Amino acid sequence: MALLPVSAALLSLTLTALLLPASLVLSSTQFAPPDNYLVNCGSDAPTTLDPDNRPFVGDHRAPSSSFRLTSSRTFPLADATPRPHSSPIYSQVRVFYSASSYRFPVKQKGTHIVRLHIQRRSDPLDRQLFRVYAGEFLLIGDGVEPGVDVAIKEYFVWVDGEDLEIRFVPKKGSFAYVNAIEVISAPASLIADDARLLGGSARSPIWITGVTQRALETVYRVNVGGPKVTPFNDSLWRTWLPDDEYLTASEDPSIRRVYTSGPIRYQSFGPARQDGPDNVYNTARVVTSEKSSSIPNLNLTWTFPVVEGYEYLVRLHFCDIASVALGMLYFNVYVNGYLAYENLDLSSLTIQSLASPVYADFVVRGCGLDSVSVSVGPSDLSRPHSVDAILNGVEIFKMSNAVKSLDGGVGMDLKRSGICNALPLVAVVCLLVLLSMVVKRRLATLKDSGVWARLSLGGSDSGLKYSSIPLADKL
Ligand SMILES: *[C@@H]1O[C@H](CO)[C@@H](O)[C@H](O)[C@H]1NC(C)=O
Ligand SMILES: *[C@@H]1O[C@H](CO)[C@@H](O)[C@H](O)[C@H]1NC(C)=O
Repeated sequence: MALLPVSAALLSLTLTALLLPASLVLSSTQFAPPDNYLVNCGSDAPTTLDPDNRPFVGDHRAPSSSFRLTSSRTFPLADATPRPHSSPIYSQVRVFYSASSYRFPVKQKGTHIVRLHIQRRSDPLDRQLFRVYAGEFLLIGDGVEPGVDVAIKEYFVWVDGEDLEIRFVPKKGSFAYVNAIEVISAPASLIADDARLLGGSARSPIWITGVTQRALETVYRVNVGGPKVTPFNDSLWRTWLPDDEYLTASEDPSIRRVYTSGPIRYQSFGPARQDGPDNVYNTARVVTSEKSSSIPNLNLTWTFPVVEGYEYLVRLHFCDIASVALGMLYFNVYVNGYLAYENLDLSSLTIQSLASPVYADFVVRGCGLDSVSVSVGPSDLSRPHSVDAILNGVEIFKMSNAVKSLDGGVGMDLKRSGICNALPLVAVVCLLVLLSMVVKRRLATLKDSGVWARLSLGGSDSGLKYSSIPLADKL
């Protein structure tokens, strides 16, 4: 067993990684959550299968050992004219006309995924104002926003009691309603508690802790360069959308989509399949100089509009499925114009393996922050005739504020939430970026890393494919 050279950068990053909990997650095993509630609200059927074959239990006759619905004023409502192709879990709804709650006994404390499925209605239920809480956190302040057919709202909520209460509170003169609820234990390693703040100077990093104690709401989850990934193909039943809409379009020939049909090499020290599925890591967009002797002078940029007044956790997923050999890809990563990572060398982070995933977490915040932009571009170390930047996936989570709100109401007051007070206001926009490069590690030899070193340009047996599809086209 020979130890491979480990760079200084990796060492400092792995120190970070050692602080992370539960790093030994076996990537190949199917995730089996200790708590896994799928509730079909308003249904008296024992179970209803959703399109992904998951059994949702009707809330009329849940077994007493399971979740409990407490409400004095509620009724189930069936949809007389279910929409064609709509999931059967949306063909009925539970309506509340006073504060009501579901209690979910929790076997394992820690972060739980909460998903609320709320279908918009064409009847008077539409445009009702209500609040939804999970434990102490306000998830929804004013009902569901207009313009969406089904709102599937996803949250990450820390539970350290015996149960999790999801509470629906209609406003005066309104109803609250919900079609389905999921409460699922998240893998312990999914959300790290610490985030590293690089701020203005990387030399004096500031750490924030307690990230897991906040509630997070998924606001974007995109599969860069690839198609939609449905819950069926994600071990945590997430949905990843294509990135086209967020890409700041560039017709530059040095920007390409890439994909691989070869295996994604999940490693025990790196992200597991639960962090990002194969279908996310096997597609990407790149800046490339493969057919040129000059390095393109541009960035590949995505822009995600966000609601002002909150902090956002930005998770960037990388997997070098495009380089033909190790040590050829160096690039810069920017979040909101801030240099979040300089000369990023994925092969040192994956301990010399191509097609191995890595992700990085950052926190951004600021007064007037109304979008999150992510850019990748060539760095000083980029080389011609190679791939010069890559990105495979992006997730953006809204973080609950100081008054435990994710959606206005008590939480919209910036002064109360402390975001603006805590920072010197030099310009209109104040911005801090935290960087935490997540590398859970195990020093190991990688018995098949040699395979990748042997790949030649365009080698047909490599499983690596280069897409020449222009940016605007769909895969
Ligand atoms: C799951 O992924 C496979 C491989 O990419 C794809 O062929 C299939 O259509 C996907 N299934 C669903 C339900 O999305
Ligand atoms: C890439 O984006 C960063 C941050 O916005 C900027 O500083 C840099 O000049 C950009 N590079 C190019 C080539 O546009």
